[in-house]
Amino acid sequence: MASIPQILSWIVRDVYHGWSPLPLPPAGSFAGQTVCVVGGSTGLGLASAEHCVNLGAAEVIITSRGASRANAAKEYLEGKAAAIAATTGASECRVTGMILDMNRYDSVVGFAEDLKKIKKGQGGLDFILLNAAVIQSRFVQSPEGWQEELQVNTLSSVLLALLLMPWLRAERRNRYSPAHLAFTTSSASLANDISKWEGWSSQNGGEGILNHWNKKETWPPGLSGGYGISKALLMYACRELVKMAVGPDGKPWVIINSMEPGMVKTEIQRHILENSPALEFLGDIFVSAVFKTSENGARILIMGGLTTEEEHGHRLSRLYPHEEYMNMPVVASPMAKRLQQIVWNEITGILAKAVPEAKQCLTELRSP
Ligand SMILES: NC(=O)c1ccc[n+]([C@@H]2O[C@H](COP(=O)([O-])OP(=O)(O)OC[C@H]3O[C@@H](n4cnc5c(N)ncnc54)[C@H](OP(=O)(O)O)[C@@H]3O)[C@@H](O)[C@H]2O)c1
Repeated sequence: MASIPQILSWIVRDVYHGWSPLPLPPAGSFAGQTVCVVGGSTGLGLASAEHCVNLGAAEVIITSRGASRANAAKEYLEGKAAAIAATTGASECRVTGMILDMNRYDSVVGFAEDLKKIKKGQGGLDFILLNAAVIQSRFVQSPEGWQEELQVNTLSSVLLALLLMPWLRAERRNRYSPAHLAFTTSSASLANDISKWEGWSSQNGGEGILNHWNKKETWPPGLSGGYGISKALLMYACRELVKMAVGPDGKPWVIINSMEPGMVKTEIQRHILENSPALEFLGDIFVSAVFKTSENGARILIMGGLTTEEEHGHRLSRLYPHEEYMNMPVVASPMAKRLQQIVWNEITGILAKAVPEAKQCLTELRSP
């Protein structure tokens, strides 16, 4: 896990980034592109969608679990799109709201099917940002039987990527350059003590790492608890997806990145302190004073739609360079490398058993 001095230095740097935002990419960076922000109804997702509208996207799709939230975000973005069109004279960005509940596999499968119809045979989507996530302060299970962070942040995020990747690969021949598939990650993914995880894996006679955490007795609440674990599991799965995205010519047929926005004031904090009104009040003051705005935090998320083939697989962070990340023990140690494979096998095993479409996609992705 990252050391305490390392984490403290990241916090100090991140607070500074609140006053010193990453510069925006040049005007027109997303010109003519079709973008989908999963979890784009609020917070960092909505701010990312807004940046894409401002930077010239032709169509922006956002998702929410609820129609009213999807419609509110759509109307907000349409207002921005109209203002941009009026000032630049360019054609107005089309905004679409779609319903997606990542607590249920059938919703993820249905959403992926709908998304794949967009620009079918014409290159598909240009940039898909898998951004939805939750933090829970209580043990809440999804209808699929998984603790909600494991369900939404890990299993359904990987499922969605798996369902979309064969389609993105097929659309590559209809595009000049690869499409972008990007994940919003968190430094909480680097702050876990993973030393015992390998021993819990079924290949070592254990119950399985995900099964281990999927219990009220073992699941730790909060930012450095279940949330960090779910993001670490997603990080390992992403690193395997990066390998699968490389074609027989050694080049990526879809460019995959993860981006770390740092501490941002959004709705996600609401569950951390909700059990204590006093802490909620103090926490709100602290978050308002120290955390950056969504507009600021989303600047790095949209960079996941603008990376080059050479940057395939990079983790984009303002806290450390990619090379430093690649040498962190949580990624580079022999144990972490074994763990990555174990986690991938567990996640794909769970998904292949529960979702026939995932099994089919895995077969397609494993064939050259
Ligand atoms: N805020 C931070 O400090 C911070 C730091 C590092 C990383 N991140 C990451 O940034 C991303 C965005 O977080 P945020 O802070 O912007 O959080 P947020 O304001 O709570 O937004 C979360 C988004 O995810 C969607 N979502 C939640 N549960 C879902 C589900 N079951 N199915 C489908 N969509 C669901 C929400 O949509 P509806 O509620 O409308 O359905 C919403 O659009 C997350 O991946 C988070 O881990 C945040």
